Amino acid sequence: MWSDLDGMKADANSRKIVDLFAQDETRFGAFSLASDGLVFDYSKTSIDAAAKAALVTLAQKAGVAEKRAAMFAGDKINETEGRAVLHTALRNLDGAPVVVDGEDVLPEVKATRARMAEFAQKVRDGSYPGDGRRITDVVNIGIGGSDLGPLMAVLALAPYHDGPKCHFISNVDGADATDTLAELDPATTLVIVASKTFTTQETLMNARTVLNWAGGDAALGRFVAISSAVENCAEFGIPAERVFGFEDWVGGRYSVWGPIGFSLMLAIGPAAFESFLEGGQAMDRHFQEAGFAENMPVLLALVGIWNQQVCGHGTRAVLPYEQRLARLPAYLQQLEMESNGKGVAMDGSPLTRVAGPVVWGEPGTNGQHAFYQLIHQGQQVVPCEFIVGAEGHEPALGDHHRALVANCLAQSEALLKGRTEDEARAQLVTKGVSGDRLDQLAKHRVFSGNRPSTTLVYPRLTPYVLGQLVALYEHRVFVEGVIYGLNSYDQWGVELGKELANGLVPAVAGKGAPEGASASTVALLDHILSLRA
Ligand code: F6P
Repeated sequence: MWSDLDGMKADANSRKIVDLFAQDETRFGAFSLASDGLVFDYSKTSIDAAAKAALVTLAQKAGVAEKRAAMFAGDKINETEGRAVLHTALRNLDGAPVVVDGEDVLPEVKATRARMAEFAQKVRDGSYPGDGRRITDVVNIGIGGSDLGPLMAVLALAPYHDGPKCHFISNVDGADATDTLAELDPATTLVIVASKTFTTQETLMNARTVLNWAGGDAALGRFVAISSAVENCAEFGIPAERVFGFEDWVGGRYSVWGPIGFSLMLAIGPAAFESFLEGGQAMDRHFQEAGFAENMPVLLALVGIWNQQVCGHGTRAVLPYEQRLARLPAYLQQLEMESNGKGVAMDGSPLTRVAGPVVWGEPGTNGQHAFYQLIHQGQQVVPCEFIVGAEGHEPALGDHHRALVANCLAQSEALLKGRTEDEARAQLVTKGVSGDRLDQLAKHRVFSGNRPSTTLVYPRLTPYVLGQLVALYEHRVFVEGVIYGLNSYDQWGVELGKELANGLVPAVAGKGAPEGASASTVALLDHILSLRA
């Protein structure tokens, strides 16, 4: 399956991307894709026509089309957990029935969304809780997929906020709850406890702390739960009428489209939330209908696979030139790394390739003044994924947006072209530098260039566009997972640390180190205990 691509390694790594542009005036057209307002440019990579053909063949041979059909049809493609993978059903606003275990799941999805909308409307118009005090603030307590999705989306869609202000508590560190609650009044705060399993240590601990802050059980009327485990919510004290459920076929990191997105719905309103879903559904259609060579999620996945498997670049930087997408890199870290950071194939055999790059990033322009030094001149090449909107939401600050876009385009241009030593010398000479100093400084001012990047352009960051983007990345992860032959929908790798943490809680309370703990852990524990008052 990989032999054609493996055979391209030497060529790919000696090739100059600028030469590809010089040889083909139509390169941008051939190596970019426009669909439903989005433009994905991958011409600034070392992919040529033969590479693209081999990558598309790889996706075909791996069975992406068949697995895609199986996923949308509700087959149990999450084999290790025996579950369907149907986050797409949460944004299926007008599609055909989706059947799991003989039952169409869409009516229940729609009914839950209608309940959410009704409740959200009451909060937003002040008729809930009905004690004369209006809800001004919402606190979402959750972690991982029960935090990152709504947090990222609420921040992204700030210009659309016309509801209560949303806050997020995730970390078990008491500092998170303390600092978040400091500015809030329990009487006007709605608390959302968001946990698919309703067993997560951090979330339950934070939920109890916030309940205490709110005044104990008497305050439970201002608590809602979002979970697949209604019984656990009842045990906590939140009755079924204030629980918004979802099924086990929605993975935590894919769950922002449903009840886990409740804080987003409260902030922007049910209509704008629906527009977010419409964007996701539009991307689902594109993913299902477009041929692989014109399919944005497929191409995004294939470009990443090219950079990692053929060119050998093990990390990927996500660089949104949009301050409101500040949490997108963190969101994508979970989406990509929890999904595809695996070592075994679906059948348990070891993977033959390192799957899943390390994903990291920060918004531009801030990242430029922090880590771009390494991106431009460091010895390991970091493929960069630039993301930018044609327009901002601040017409009065058009000059800011123009500067933002200019910076984004400048970075990919610099990565592509670099600067030769001759060019560096010439520049220094015009500044009056000469002799030994010129020889020395010129070397420091060389940029190798030939560093791959892609750029994704959207018109403006609306709810619809955000829906498109999130679904785009979800499907990219799916395609990568199918090509590597792994299960993108389980996360066994998070279990061991959780188990050991449970065993260590009494030890940190001074009750003795757990049996079998390493000498390092025992010594650290002793040291920490000795420093306590
Ligand atoms: O520990 C990882 C994880 O299970 C994630 O997959 C999930 O998003 C997160 O914890 C939170 O889980 P829950 O929603 O069940 O509290």
